[in-house]
Amino acid sequence: MNKTIAGFSKLSKSQKIDWIVKTYFSNAEGTKSILKQYWNTNEKLQQLHDEFIENTITNYYLPFGVAPNFLINGKHYTVPMAIEESSVVAAASKAAKFWLDRGGFKTEVISTNKIGQVHFMFSGDYKTLNTFFERVKPKLITDCNGITKNMERRGGGILNVELVNKTEAIPNYYQLHATFETLDAMGANFINSCLEQFAKTLKEQAALYDGFSETEKNIDIVMSILSNYVPDCLVRVSVSCPVNELSETEAISGRDFAEKFVQAVNIAEVEPYRAVTHNKGIMNGVDAVVLATGNDFRAIEAGVHAFAARDGQYRSLSHAKVEGDTFTFWMDIPLALGTVGGLTGLHPLVKLALELLGHPSAKELMQITAAAGLAQNFAALKSLTTTGIQQGHMKMHLLNILNQFEATAEEKSKLIKNFKDNTVTHSAVVEALNKLRSKA
Ligand code: MEV
Repeated sequence: MNKTIAGFSKLSKSQKIDWIVKTYFSNAEGTKSILKQYWNTNEKLQQLHDEFIENTITNYYLPFGVAPNFLINGKHYTVPMAIEESSVVAAASKAAKFWLDRGGFKTEVISTNKIGQVHFMFSGDYKTLNTFFERVKPKLITDCNGITKNMERRGGGILNVELVNKTEAIPNYYQLHATFETLDAMGANFINSCLEQFAKTLKEQAALYDGFSETEKNIDIVMSILSNYVPDCLVRVSVSCPVNELSETEAISGRDFAEKFVQAVNIAEVEPYRAVTHNKGIMNGVDAVVLATGNDFRAIEAGVHAFAARDGQYRSLSHAKVEGDTFTFWMDIPLALGTVGGLTGLHPLVKLALELLGHPSAKELMQITAAAGLAQNFAALKSLTTTGIQQGHMKMHLLNILNQFEATAEEKSKLIKNFKDNTVTHSAVVEALNKLRSKA
């Protein structure tokens, strides 16, 4: 059977579904009914989702949860999180509550600059190119006036454009490396529009420049695109308390806990295998807030991991120390987030998430998101260095297993009780469920 198709995007939604179901599925009606189950009965809302992307055939739901009790710079937040991993919201809430009683999170936006580049080829003399660039630079910026007018009125815009010689890496390769301030917008459209205008002006002006030879006049633009590496769009978050306030059980003293915790962070600073998992834990919190607030989690992920490897080795984003009697845990993380534009004004749940956060500015959202990341990291390391991670994880996982086997409310309640004192493993849960069912 032919499994390819021409003109798929032109088909109606039901024609698309018919083709997919007929071509790839044995149970056509069953497949259609699953797809339909996830449609929204509110036609307008469904249409909105249909139009977010091309070829929408249904909606893919993720749980939207909240982590209450975040205290950030003295202000209380309930943080929205969209994520499927069972323990993440629970862990964030637990860490938020822990630090609520110990002064909360302190955050500070260090910088908010974003980067974009025009990559181009120029065969000729660098000095001549540089002289041309210095001459054309004001025009590069003024030609963008139509794009930058509104952003400038609000205090943002193009901060600088530089010529970068990359010919040691690739013959004839140069860049216009530009920095931007995009305020509350993530700014991708703004930056890319400016870059494409830079490229146009650069090419046109080079063709007219008397100082260039005929070959030099022919600048070859390769591409113009923002960078998701944003080491100068940085937020710092920290928590701190006396070591003796750290322990919640008799089993371990605050100082022993602090020292073990610091060791665990130090390991992630020097050992890339551990650092990746350590940072993954941070991103559990970060991505969940990024997604709930309609931001681009792929961009955030790419930028954060590049930052974690900025000195040539992939390292922990967070750091911890004990100085005298004080424990401090902190991180700097690059987060280019927006609270206007994109999905923020479109997706009803994103609007709700932003309202829940009190309509934050992009800077405030950077701080909240960083706090969620550090909270997540704290919760993971606290479990890992004390009870181990599986105890908490499997408790949350229990419900997933029970749902997988379509346990009734009564079965769930009995088994949750049963597993309060027993180790949760997949096989133990299945066995217990089977036993319960055979008794019934
Ligand atoms: C699981 O999603 C995240 C952790 O592995 C993070 C970590 O190991 O620090 C628990």
